[in-house]
Amino acid sequence: MIPYGKQKIGKDDVKEIINVSRSTMLTTGPKVLEFEKKLKNYTKAKFAVSCNSGTSALHLAFLSINLQPGDIIIMPAINFIATFNICKLLNAKIYLADVDPIKGVVTPKNILDVIKNNKLKKIKAIVTMHLGGKVEQTEEFFNLKKRFKFFLIEDSCHAFGSKYIYRDKYFNVGCAKHADLSTFSFHPIKSITTGEGGAVTTNNKSLHERMRLFKSHGIIRSKSKHWEYDIASPGLNFRLSDINCALGISQLKKINLFMRERVKIAKFYEQEFRKFDFKVIFPKVSKIQSSWHLYVVNFTFKSLGEKDKFFKYLKKNKIIAQFHYIPIYNFSIGKKYKKLPGCEKYFKSAVSIPIYVGLKKTQQLKVVKTIYNFFKKKN
Ligand SMILES: Cc1ncc(COP(=O)(O)O)c(C=O)c1O
Repeated sequence: MIPYGKQKIGKDDVKEIINVSRSTMLTTGPKVLEFEKKLKNYTKAKFAVSCNSGTSALHLAFLSINLQPGDIIIMPAINFIATFNICKLLNAKIYLADVDPIKGVVTPKNILDVIKNNKLKKIKAIVTMHLGGKVEQTEEFFNLKKRFKFFLIEDSCHAFGSKYIYRDKYFNVGCAKHADLSTFSFHPIKSITTGEGGAVTTNNKSLHERMRLFKSHGIIRSKSKHWEYDIASPGLNFRLSDINCALGISQLKKINLFMRERVKIAKFYEQEFRKFDFKVIFPKVSKIQSSWHLYVVNFTFKSLGEKDKFFKYLKKNKIIAQFHYIPIYNFSIGKKYKKLPGCEKYFKSAVSIPIYVGLKKTQQLKVVKTIYNFFKKKN
């Protein structure tokens, strides 16, 4: 089977995991501090907090801004369910925004529509999500943040390693210059992996301190007596272990290599899709680095039923494509929300095809050929 995403673990990674397993500290040890320092250096943010998943990263972000019951939060209706779930658990007032019908990402105009249509006044936070890894319209989002004075949280779980442009200058995703908080996931299929794992970056000292407290029971240790500590506010255990961090440090060394490999695959797909003699919309490689976490192609399906057949056809040919993501209003948990036109179009046409470090040229060609054959048979 060719999955749509997969990790790349080398002997170097395994060696680091073994070494740390033999050390005295399996958690809250030096590897955690080293990984956080490396994340800070890589993203160029002032602060980086590691945690045990991308979901925990989002949870820490929402706790750090003190998201309270009834607080207004706007998020895309096409998103991994973590953001919605956490805000539901925190009893926030959630508004779902529509997305671009081709790219599936929420745009500043989508956010503005929600604000205007609902006459929203005091907005606590907006969550954006860099679907697939490409980051666009940062300046417009940042202007909205300044205008409406909300916290801007970017769910960058797909975009570790991506860059963006702000006023003709390049920035690393996670540098926290144009967002308050950026969250990352190091789940196996992401740009780099720690097994399970995540992180939040920020330039805001007080948000950073709050996240540090929340991620480890709210404990404040005495500097002089190791047996004494205070709990000033409640917290949880969101810690990432030294074993996970050792893997993360090792993976991070290879991030540029990983990014180059993904770009190569994207370029190949682009070149092949250009040859198709029927309509297909595919993403293009540009000089703004994308992590290429996903390669999303828009096909002209007559119905969702035909899209199902497409997934089945690929599976029969040992290719596992995927869709990111089912609109939240389609789930039982989101049924009070209305369908949105951009999400509906995206849902009907978009498919994530395999892209990962280690996907061989022969496999890439097989993916393209199988897709071509499906539509040719149909015609
Ligand atoms: C956009 C997005 N947000 C959040 C998450 C949650 O990350 P994790 O699986 O590490 O909890 C994911 C993971 O798939 C994701 O893709």
